[in-house]
Amino acid sequence: MSSLARTALPQRLAVAVVVMACTLAAAAPARAGDAAPTVHPELWPQARWPLPPDPALEARVEALLTRMTLEEKVGQTIQADIGSVTPEDVRRYRLGSILAGGNSKPGGRRTATPAQWQAAADAFHAASIDTRGGHLAVPVLFGVDAVHGDNSTLGATLFPQNSALGATRDPDLIRAIGAATAQEVRATGLNWSFAPTLAVPQDDRWGRAYEGYSEDPRIVADYASAMVEGLQGRVGSSAFLDRSHVIASAKHFLGDGGTRDGKDQGDNPDSEQALIRIHAAGYPPAIDAGAQTVMVSFSSWQGRKMSGNRALLTDVLKQRMQFGGFVVSDWNAHGQVPGCSNEDCPAAYHAGMDMLMAPDSWRGLYEHTLAEVKAGTIAPARLDDAVRRILRVKLRLRLFEQGPPSSLPLAQRAGEIVGSPAHRALARRAVRESLVLLKNNHGLLPLDPRKHLLVTGDSADNISRQNGGWTLTWQGTGLSNADFPGATSIWEGVRRQVEAAGGSAELSADGRFTHRPDAAIVVFGEDPYAEFQGDLPNLAFHPGDDHELALLRKLHAQGIPVVAVFLTGRPLWVNREINAADAFVVGWLPGSEGEGVADVLLRTATGAVAHDFRGTLAYSWPRSAVQPPQNVGQPGYDPQFAFGYGLSYARPAELDRLPEDPGMPLTGARAGVYLDRGKAEPGLSMQLVGVDGAATTVSANAGASTDGSVRMRGLDYQAQEDARSVAWTGQSTGALRLHADAPMDLDRETNGDVLLITTLRIDALSPAGSRIAMACGEGCRGELAIGSQLARLPRQTWQRLGVPLKCFRAAGADMRRLDTPFAWTSGAGERVAFARVALGTVADHLLSCPSN
Ligand code: BGC
Ligand code: BGC
Repeated sequence: MSSLARTALPQRLAVAVVVMACTLAAAAPARAGDAAPTVHPELWPQARWPLPPDPALEARVEALLTRMTLEEKVGQTIQADIGSVTPEDVRRYRLGSILAGGNSKPGGRRTATPAQWQAAADAFHAASIDTRGGHLAVPVLFGVDAVHGDNSTLGATLFPQNSALGATRDPDLIRAIGAATAQEVRATGLNWSFAPTLAVPQDDRWGRAYEGYSEDPRIVADYASAMVEGLQGRVGSSAFLDRSHVIASAKHFLGDGGTRDGKDQGDNPDSEQALIRIHAAGYPPAIDAGAQTVMVSFSSWQGRKMSGNRALLTDVLKQRMQFGGFVVSDWNAHGQVPGCSNEDCPAAYHAGMDMLMAPDSWRGLYEHTLAEVKAGTIAPARLDDAVRRILRVKLRLRLFEQGPPSSLPLAQRAGEIVGSPAHRALARRAVRESLVLLKNNHGLLPLDPRKHLLVTGDSADNISRQNGGWTLTWQGTGLSNADFPGATSIWEGVRRQVEAAGGSAELSADGRFTHRPDAAIVVFGEDPYAEFQGDLPNLAFHPGDDHELALLRKLHAQGIPVVAVFLTGRPLWVNREINAADAFVVGWLPGSEGEGVADVLLRTATGAVAHDFRGTLAYSWPRSAVQPPQNVGQPGYDPQFAFGYGLSYARPAELDRLPEDPGMPLTGARAGVYLDRGKAEPGLSMQLVGVDGAATTVSANAGASTDGSVRMRGLDYQAQEDARSVAWTGQSTGALRLHADAPMDLDRETNGDVLLITTLRIDALSPAGSRIAMACGEGCRGELAIGSQLARLPRQTWQRLGVPLKCFRAAGADMRRLDTPFAWTSGAGERVAFARVALGTVADHLLSCPSN
């Protein structure tokens, strides 16, 4: 059982689930000994690898292979992350590929410009072809998640996320977006995008639902070949894998969109038939289009991790579907295969993995793999097959002939290509085509731009909210409009068009106005998230926080016609918000070109309709927050708005009032928060531990350990007594700690580079030295001596201190069963105030793992 910590299950229920999981585990035989689910390759669809046999290319592959040492071969099969590898490492270990994960930018920066990417790409490329020491030159592949445009680059065009694109039903648009994305990626010097995502999300609680085009496998299949062709160029044309295209990754093979309860990296329990019918749909078309790589899913199928599933990776993908590129694993996903670790996984090679994504674990993996090849644990023929596949892709991409990445024509013109007007126009068109109109009573839309419009809601002028996760940072958080040069917020788009038409527009976050508006546009929606951080226990839109609903109702009560624009990665239950608005538009996550919204919502200056709504739902909209997943074509299908729904100016309709019963209490326990406003969250208790070792639970704002050596009192941070000041007086060490009623599993968070973030103010440090810890029961803890790092931080200043979870794991914590997510130990003279302790990815000061 995992990640209870981040689900919003009421604690009692969480405990029940833990008990149940333990019972099941006790009853079931150990996983590793289970019979693998049976696979019948002959039942699977065939694909046709479109590249004809190429004897000249094969001869080059063989010539390279015969000259390669075992070490060089192993290096080719490993991919490291630029946050953990240097060009010198690439030179020495002859790594076949590097990637820039969602949070990795050249030089450890937070964001990067095209020039900075190019410099990094050149350095790694030069290292890979450096022949000193008798090495063979094999240029490195450099991959990045360009999943909605070249979304890791400052100033790039950011297209709507995939759930929005599904609503357009327009494969030609998808192809054009792929081509534009490829150009921008190449302009930065990189040559591989980890896209398209071919997941067919069946449960919108999944935090990656927005990365999928649709719940309907037919749409995913239609788009798969279009996106692969856009990124790579069309097979058979001279554009194929030329210098303005990149290699694609069809991901995540297989079944990622069908995990139980929409849990990220969870288990897909489907039958083989359902796997074929639903989740495999995009792969044959992607292979027919010549996709050069396939990325394997983190998830399991019927209890077996995909990264170790030979039947599906080899018998189905490589044989039945004739896939002729190479298979790459996901971010340390091989480490989850029974018997494997991040640094060691022969089972993945056996299963048919050709390259292992070992971001920070590459060195250990290299050593172990090399030893296993030498010992014969990994068959030489299997290694050769993996290397051949990788070399073929490199040769097809003409990597050996291309020279330094910055010398490519598009890179030379990066200033014109990245965020070009043509690409932005394409993105803006995609925004227009993806908007879905759920309600337009009394024909409120389109609005007349010659009037006075109020634009409000906390997403109205918030480009980060328009983009969601996988945007400049992994989670897409911690950004302001200044991080998006060249982009346009929804407010800005409306303002421009209204002013050009002779009307006036007013922006306010909270709905107040200086002139009574003729209509209000309220823009609101989800906060950005990526992967498991977006997993939800139900489809309620941030339960317990109704401020947007209150805003809609307040404007409505004043007799102002209200248009709601909902920015979301997925359908969520918002019946109350729909009722409170006269018109309701699903804007999805539209990306950098917010003006596409004004294009459709407003008439032209002469009163004409310039653009009608074209989008229709590619995901069914739920009737309640707890309705079982609704997917078109499945038994019992009864959504609020069906797949394919979408009004337009040409097809108007009035919408009756919707039922407002969410089906559950709308209160929220929060994920990954342990202490907030000075108080322990439900399910946790705050304890003071004296030098005598006795723990005292403190529920009031003040208290002390039984021996009086650790004392706490209330303190004002942003509000009255919303922090706790803790003082240590004892001669030996004592602690403040947060103790959980039920153990929590932070294993996934640890692998994802999540931080433990403490909002604190340091008043005085003890010479005894501060230590921060996570503990996991009797004798189990990961404790870090951070005194010397704290000594360098400012005093008397509130700041967010980030400690990577993996430091606690390295220091001995078992992250699967933490009972103390936070402990702060020190001695006489220390005085620190604490306001909040929570998981997150944005900190003011990031500590490094101390060696202790
Ligand atoms: C994600 C992949 C992504 C990879 C590299 C993983 O955590 O699951 O979709 O391509 O990281 O960033
Ligand atoms: C993501 C990476 C990301 C990392 C956090 C992974 O799970 O897929 O792309 O950078 O976590 O650093």
